[in-house]
Amino acid sequence: MDFPLHGRSFLRELDFTNEEWAYFLDLALDLKNAKHAGTEVQYLRGLNIALIFEKMSTRTRCAFEVAAADQGAHTTYLDPSGSHLGYKESVADTARVLGRMFDGIEYRGDDQCVVEDLAHLSGVPVFNGLTDLWHPTQMLADALTMKEHSAKPLSETAFAYLGDARFNMGRSLVISGAMLGMKVVIAAPPQYQPPADVVDEARVRAEQSGAEIIITDDVEAIAGVDFVHTDMWVSMGEDEAVWDERVSSLLPYRVTEEVMNLAGPDAKFMHCLPSVHDNMTTVGEQVLAKYGLMGAEVQNAVFEGPRSVVFDQAENRLHTIKAVMVATLGR
Ligand code: CP
Ligand code: NVA
Repeated sequence: MDFPLHGRSFLRELDFTNEEWAYFLDLALDLKNAKHAGTEVQYLRGLNIALIFEKMSTRTRCAFEVAAADQGAHTTYLDPSGSHLGYKESVADTARVLGRMFDGIEYRGDDQCVVEDLAHLSGVPVFNGLTDLWHPTQMLADALTMKEHSAKPLSETAFAYLGDARFNMGRSLVISGAMLGMKVVIAAPPQYQPPADVVDEARVRAEQSGAEIIITDDVEAIAGVDFVHTDMWVSMGEDEAVWDERVSSLLPYRVTEEVMNLAGPDAKFMHCLPSVHDNMTTVGEQVLAKYGLMGAEVQNAVFEGPRSVVFDQAENRLHTIKAVMVATLGR
């Protein structure tokens, strides 16, 4: 099979044309269908992939490991305590070492510059498994999930994102939606809206794709969208002290039954996960004890309700991450 993106790194959505971005989705759907039909062909047989996680992960790590195993590749997991990266060995040195041993490298951490440096110096394709600026593998899973749950093509589908939109998820969603020609509504208080440079880039892509981009602080603007997304109010690496301000600023943007009804009777709920939707976790307990809130960014009734497609979305991390590795390393 011919893989036109062979040898490319996967660092942020904007490194790809709108057409290339759509290609990853088509490939993911083919790979998903093949896995379910028992006809999957292994394109990564004998390859070695390094997985560097400087932050926690459930879905992304497991998706890389299972996708690699399905495709006949081997993974090596490196956590912050399991390597010298950052403490006594620089990114530049680590990149040059790993590039001699591995065929591809996944990286998750705060700093986008690190994943960019790894790509420039290792000489092998590098995959961004989340930085503070972008979460591109998540975007493919989100788009595939919307494609599967919408009767319309993505270019006629609308989604909203409510909450902290100035961090990785909000930034990536506005760009990915623009690249796919979708209607994107970001509803967030001004200080939590995506920065101007990201909105400008989204508008450039929207010109090419026919997308519509709406950035507003008005929750009413989500009326009629097909999908409602949100994310944790406090992201990995942020100080616990920001919770007070987040709760007071973002409470009007919490995804409740009323918000879902405002979107429309057929609107679906999406979340990259993990989510604070009840008090069954340490964070959920703290939110209940301190703010009297059962769940933060989403009400439990929405998360657990019939309009929630979050676990389909989580499964699609596997198929889309597989597509990223097959497209760039397949042979
Ligand atoms: N959505 C996501 O990236 O999940 P993990 O943090 O579990 O990888
Ligand atoms: N914004 C979240 C996304 C987690 C998948 C974080 O960075 O922690």
